[in-house]
Amino acid sequence: MSGIVVVGAQWGDEGKGKVVDVFSSQADIVVRYQGGNNAGHTLVVNGQKTVLHLIPSGILHKRCTCIIASGVVLDPEVLITEINALKEKGILTNPRQLLIADGATLIMPYHKIIDQSREERLGREKIGTTGRGIGPAYEDRASRKAVLFRDLFDSEALKQKLTVALEEKNFLIENFFRSRPLSVAELHDKYMELGRQLEVHRIDDPGLMISLAMKKKKKVLFEGAQGTLLDLLHGTYPFVTSSNTVAGGACTGTGLGPSSVKKVIGITKAYTTRVGTGPFPTELHDDIGELIQKKGSEFGATTGRRRRCGWLDLVALKYAIRVNGLTSLSLMKLDVLTGLDELKVAVGYKYKGKKITDFPTSAKVLEGVEPIYKSFKGWSKDIDGVSKKSELPKEAKDYISFIEKQVGIGCDIISTGPDRKATIWVKPLFKS
Ligand code: GDP
Ligand code: IMO
Ligand code: MG
Repeated sequence: MSGIVVVGAQWGDEGKGKVVDVFSSQADIVVRYQGGNNAGHTLVVNGQKTVLHLIPSGILHKRCTCIIASGVVLDPEVLITEINALKEKGILTNPRQLLIADGATLIMPYHKIIDQSREERLGREKIGTTGRGIGPAYEDRASRKAVLFRDLFDSEALKQKLTVALEEKNFLIENFFRSRPLSVAELHDKYMELGRQLEVHRIDDPGLMISLAMKKKKKVLFEGAQGTLLDLLHGTYPFVTSSNTVAGGACTGTGLGPSSVKKVIGITKAYTTRVGTGPFPTELHDDIGELIQKKGSEFGATTGRRRRCGWLDLVALKYAIRVNGLTSLSLMKLDVLTGLDELKVAVGYKYKGKKITDFPTSAKVLEGVEPIYKSFKGWSKDIDGVSKKSELPKEAKDYISFIEKQVGIGCDIISTGPDRKATIWVKPLFKS
């Protein structure tokens, strides 16, 4: 089978968009399988930046079919804005370049109201969500009340679902969140219209299409959103998102079995970042943290929030390797570390006076750990845009070798800048 999963190995924003764009030159199909427009995936080609929230990052490659699978929560208005922006740029000229699963869950206006109002009420205890309605939309899916993409093409079904949903949501919105109730008729008309605009992208079952394509040896990339440590079951709960961000989500979110996946590539920065609240053992609260934040332009691609920055954490990375079954890594943003005299990497934690090397599953425990660091000599040679490993300074190579040895898997890709070209290919992608 020819499936390759690209998955975030940290708390998101590792550079998945860049990697998927780079890999897509060799792929036939690219699939987004979970999350929604909480994601912000950045692609840079010849200095031209494109930020995608819902559309798979293979879209700049005309021969790729991009699929939004049923595991995704979809805000139709956001998707239409994104489609129109790409059309204006001359990208997405053929509507069947983008296919949307009939079974995808819709994010409705009440999901956004609930998400934002809940965060407001939590105050200092808030999760720091993106406010895009992700959690409430997945809740409705789990409680079998969700409006699906296919409902936009069945006026009666949509009306009936909205009537049931709004009876409950409006009660909550008015009486608990003290906000204005929504009208079934207004929502119905608006969403029927959004459906008319998106109908050209409809596909009943992308899992079927992908499995047939795989039989014909077509190459398929599964593009993860968020990151391992934001996974609903395996992340730093409750400071997580509401989907399965780990590689297994590619199968459940698309409708394929695990044997369709041949490789699982974990994307990690050469350091660590996190947006939103929650534990982050290697976080830097000093000048170095600030320097990394500035040099790496660490602002969220979705909300514009400042990303918290810290050293690379191998305890967390080893955990990501296990829960995703990673077969290799892509090491991103190595260029950002240039100029630092000393680099540090966490190789273990101290917790209540004892050394631990396995990632704790409790956020409370993680909050209380103290990293044990190994130090490295930095480098000063400019490596921006380097595309050959041999051109990296010895100190950078030593840093990479140490990581690879410690975690037991190698780097297929090393990234030295945001642009597509600033990429070192260590290993070919689809070679068996
Ligand atoms: P994603 O959510 O995992 O796709 O990552 P984001 O797009 O949210 O954030 C990654 C940011 O780092 C984007 O601004 C990218 O353009 C940028 N980026 C990716 N790789 C590199 C790299 O190797 N070096 C530098 N300096 N920037 C990079
Ligand atoms: P990409 O795909 C980084 C974080 C939010 C918050 C938590 C829950 O670009 O890597 P949500 O809105 O999902 O309910 O918020 O998850 N978060 C991300 N952090 N990158 C992302 O996506 C994220 N998507 C959600 O900041 O802490
Ligand atoms: Mg991002």
